[in-house]
Amino acid sequence: MSIRSTIRRRISIRHYESRPVPEELLQAVVSSGETSIPLDDSIRIRFHLIKEGKLVAEQMTFFTGRRWLFGSSPHFIIATSEEKPLFMLNMGFRMEQMILFATQQGLGTCWVGGMFTEERIGAFLGLDKGERVIVLTPLGYPDTSFYGRVMHDVIELGAMNFGRRKPLKQIAFGPEWGLPLETEDSELLEVLECARLAPSWANTQPWRFLVSESEVIAVADARGRYSAVRDGKHYYRLDVGIAMAHFFLAAKEMGWKGNWQVTGFDSAQVARQHAIPDGYEVLGIYRI
Ligand SMILES: Cc1cc2nc3c(=O)[nH]c(=O)nc-3n(C[C@H](O)[C@H](O)[C@H](O)COP(=O)(O)O)c2cc1C
Repeated sequence: MSIRSTIRRRISIRHYESRPVPEELLQAVVSSGETSIPLDDSIRIRFHLIKEGKLVAEQMTFFTGRRWLFGSSPHFIIATSEEKPLFMLNMGFRMEQMILFATQQGLGTCWVGGMFTEERIGAFLGLDKGERVIVLTPLGYPDTSFYGRVMHDVIELGAMNFGRRKPLKQIAFGPEWGLPLETEDSELLEVLECARLAPSWANTQPWRFLVSESEVIAVADARGRYSAVRDGKHYYRLDVGIAMAHFFLAAKEMGWKGNWQVTGFDSAQVARQHAIPDGYEVLGIYRI
């Protein structure tokens, strides 16, 4: 399955069949995370596979850890990272590569950033010094029954716009903030569409893109709603990392050679040059 179809097919799976995933496949999923392309390769991350899912479910909040929701998952992967300036952005970018790989294998996943406390999951794992628990995902075969679909939709009722994505014109501008994107370049539009479809915390979709002929600038809405910053972890940066992964992977599949640059520019200056308003952060530049 191509990466672009995978992006279109993936949804958050919130109820699972009880049958286990074969060992080889579990290892392949973890390995896809471990070998994923980083935004900052100096940041050490780990994906902890917990084969006995109920051990993780027991550590989650009472309701979500039950069998009728995430507690049904036969396995979990818990993502931890060293705490460094770009750690959330980098984790979003890397973990989404693993999530998409799992989706390609017919497995279900769901980014879970709430519904557990870092203290409990951290104590369960036994962390290294400076290592933070960022998110976890259940992992198993999706329950495709009516009940499984309802459990997806019930939670989406609480998400922004019932889980639907913002139209492209609200998230992608021309070279300056607020200028309409005027392009007929079908490849560029396809890459932006893939970014638009990214999953995010409560479907907040905090990403914006400024697009010119030579570069695309990734910007985050940092105005912090929906628990977007907790205990020093900026969840909106995680979300933008996910959208940047979609952009990068779709572009790569179409033969583009570009990469996201996430350091080595003065973000305040870039913001001034492109009339980006206060409350937004420049997080990356992709040279086309
Ligand atoms: C960083 C992050 C954290 C999330 N945390 C949760 C969570 O705690 N519980 C949950 O049910 N869904 C969680 N989600 C899933 C989103 O609600 C979901 O991706 C979004 O509503 C869009 O739906 P879709 O994934 O089915 O396309 C999270 C997603 C992201 C990216």
